[in-house]
Amino acid sequence: MSDNIQTVTVLSKTTWTPNLFSFTVSRPDSFKFTAGQFVRLGVNPSQLKYYQQIEAGDETADSALNEDVFRAYSIVSSPFDEVIEFFSIVIPDGAFTSQLQHLQVGDELLLNTMPFGFLTLARYQKPLPKDLWLLATGTGLAPFLSMLQDLKTWEDYEHIVLAYSARSLDELAYVEKIESLQEDFGTLVDNPAKLIFIPIVTREPVEGALSERLPKLLLEGTLQARAGIALDIDTTHVMLCGNPDMVEDTKEALKTLGLVMNRRGEGNIAVENYW
Ligand SMILES: Cc1cc2nc3c(=O)[nH]c(=O)nc-3n(C[C@H](O)[C@H](O)[C@H](O)COP(=O)(O)OP(=O)(O)OC[C@H]3O[C@@H](n4cnc5c(N)ncnc54)[C@H](O)[C@@H]3O)c2cc1C
Ligand SMILES: NC(=O)c1ccc[n+]([C@@H]2O[C@H](COP(=O)([O-])OP(=O)(O)OC[C@H]3O[C@@H](n4cnc5c(N)ncnc54)[C@H](OP(=O)(O)O)[C@@H]3O)[C@@H](O)[C@H]2O)c1
Repeated sequence: MSDNIQTVTVLSKTTWTPNLFSFTVSRPDSFKFTAGQFVRLGVNPSQLKYYQQIEAGDETADSALNEDVFRAYSIVSSPFDEVIEFFSIVIPDGAFTSQLQHLQVGDELLLNTMPFGFLTLARYQKPLPKDLWLLATGTGLAPFLSMLQDLKTWEDYEHIVLAYSARSLDELAYVEKIESLQEDFGTLVDNPAKLIFIPIVTREPVEGALSERLPKLLLEGTLQARAGIALDIDTTHVMLCGNPDMVEDTKEALKTLGLVMNRRGEGNIAVENYW
């Protein structure tokens, strides 16, 4: 096993829908990361099956080890939390999540403690513009939740817009958490209106949520109107995370609006694709 790989223990699990869940694991003392980064998590299929057999009292359980399966996971929790939180999809035949979904409190996972990724606010050179737009689909919300639990994010920008798109209302996870961040961090920075949350539900009508896809909402100006602020090259940083088709289409929409990719610290748009 690589020096960076440690065993962590599942401490809690929240099931949002049959296809979506969150969980926390113990945080190794030496593990440090920046909000927005991801790590690689590992399961060992036969090891997990073995644990489940033992729990079920199966005396024929075989602990023979197979290859570990690792996948990239963005960290939901803040760099200051004592535990590490993740938000996961379940892909029915997925090599990783078809195993991960069976995890229970007390089970063990592998964590590669080398954090990766450049979807962090540190990538932007100063001076910072006044507004930060965070646009996510599905579990792509994860890195933004981490950033929103870092006070510096709230201090650095005048407005923060979080637009989060899911297919159905039940898949729009973490809404209460987002509302409590609005209140808690909004109070800390003396501006309860700083975080503008825009829920988007695309496959069923939901009161209070927008219903179109992000690129269309941007090109029509609906998202900007809902946020109550303009989105232009001089005033905005925009981060995109989640479905690669959304990332590609939204990037193109933003370019049509005059924004540019962030390179070597300069420019508006930063992205992360999940597959
Ligand atoms: C930088 C990075 C960060 C990531 N962070 C997360 C995260 O925080 N949470 C998370 O659930 N996944 C995340 N992923 C995706 C994750 O690495 C795995 O792809 C996912 O766990 C599915 O693994 P699998 O082996 O079951 O299926 P895979 O064989 O990896 O994927 C099969 C198919 O499932 C779909 N798919 C994969 N991941 C997702 C997803 N997250 N949402 C919707 N559809 C998906 C795609 O169509 C993909 O082709 C991230 C990926 C990258 C590259
Ligand atoms: N969600 C489910 O009920 C479900 C069930 C079983 C399996 N899965 C599997 O899970 C994966 C997807 O899950 P998911 O629902 O988290 O992710 P998703 O398909 O990426 O949908 C999340 C949000 O992203 C939007 N979106 C998709 N493509 C976009 C684009 N090009 N531009 C802008 N927005 C876009 C979707 O809108 P639209 O609604 O318009 O697409 C939806 O609002 C797939 O592999 C799927 O087969 C999902």
